[in-house]
Amino acid sequence: MDRITITTPDDWHLHFRDGDMLNETVPATARCFKRAIVMPNLVPPITSADMALKYRSRIIDASPANSQFEPLMTLYLTNATSTQDIVDAKQAGIHACKLYPAGATTNSDSAVKGIDALYPVFQAMQEEGMLLLVHGEVTDSHIDIFDREKAFIDTHLASIVEAFPQLKVVFEHITTADAVQFVSNSSANVAATVTPQHLLLNRNDLLVGGIRPHNYCLPVLKRNTHQQAIRDVVASGSNKFFLGTDSAPHTRDNKENACGCAGCYSAWSAIELYAQVFDDLGALDKLEGFASHHGADFYGLKRNTDTITLVQELWQVPDRITLADGTELVPFYAGQTLNWKLENSLS
Ligand code: DOR
Ligand code: ZN
Repeated sequence: MDRITITTPDDWHLHFRDGDMLNETVPATARCFKRAIVMPNLVPPITSADMALKYRSRIIDASPANSQFEPLMTLYLTNATSTQDIVDAKQAGIHACKLYPAGATTNSDSAVKGIDALYPVFQAMQEEGMLLLVHGEVTDSHIDIFDREKAFIDTHLASIVEAFPQLKVVFEHITTADAVQFVSNSSANVAATVTPQHLLLNRNDLLVGGIRPHNYCLPVLKRNTHQQAIRDVVASGSNKFFLGTDSAPHTRDNKENACGCAGCYSAWSAIELYAQVFDDLGALDKLEGFASHHGADFYGLKRNTDTITLVQELWQVPDRITLADGTELVPFYAGQTLNWKLENSLS
């Protein structure tokens, strides 16, 4: 097969950032995704419906003129989030709230300390039909970084899912066989997003032969047996697993740094990278469900009706992207050759 046409995909987890950066990140995503769930971890974080709607307008202003791109907004949960905030957000058309354990990742200092205190908010979300999106890692300093996802399942996620059986929960950017198993064994109200980096790479790609800061993200890449479990489950076609790039730009300086930031900026090549993985797995027939159907179905939104086509053609991901003010970004997979290419961009 040298070309594949699929329903236009959506990205169910990404970071656009704000300000001038939107002029780079929004067009990069709008080239092939119709909708995207936009993470709220700005500084300050998006904690109210009003902030989310204003952020949405800034994203739409940065969308290419001819694009039909639709940003789907989220709220950032803190210990100050009230049940009224949830009601207001739902009314404003906000789809989901993001739970970051405090200190888990970029801009999460103001996030949740003591998850149990949020149970009344989860109750309101369940009643309102608002999805809970989870960064599933504990942050206790004594827990090894490679064990933090499993510890989160055992300490928090299993209890949340049990206490709120009607709450739709997305376990974001899963990295372990434990997460695959947890989601697979949970009810139809529990699903997971999967990034290109966690399908393509394992911790050797981060640490062997020198530290590779552009492969550093959170949750951190795990050993290859975990990578294999994630690859196997997406190849199975299970509708509980869907596309969420976690595309998360940081400037080159902030990545190539003695204390480098976590995040892979994958929007430039995301759909092509997923195509490559599914091809490698002999499961190209499962790409469309993963990229274009399962997420919309889980969110209770209509599937897109138009299509994109990917063709088998060699191309190289750029080494650098230079923004108008001279800031440099290094895209994920920079300089590497891919063998699938989007035929026509959406905008
Ligand atoms: O690698 C990551 N980068 N993981 C996250 O959870 C956040 C993201 C970011 O915002 O940079
Ligand atoms: Zn993220």
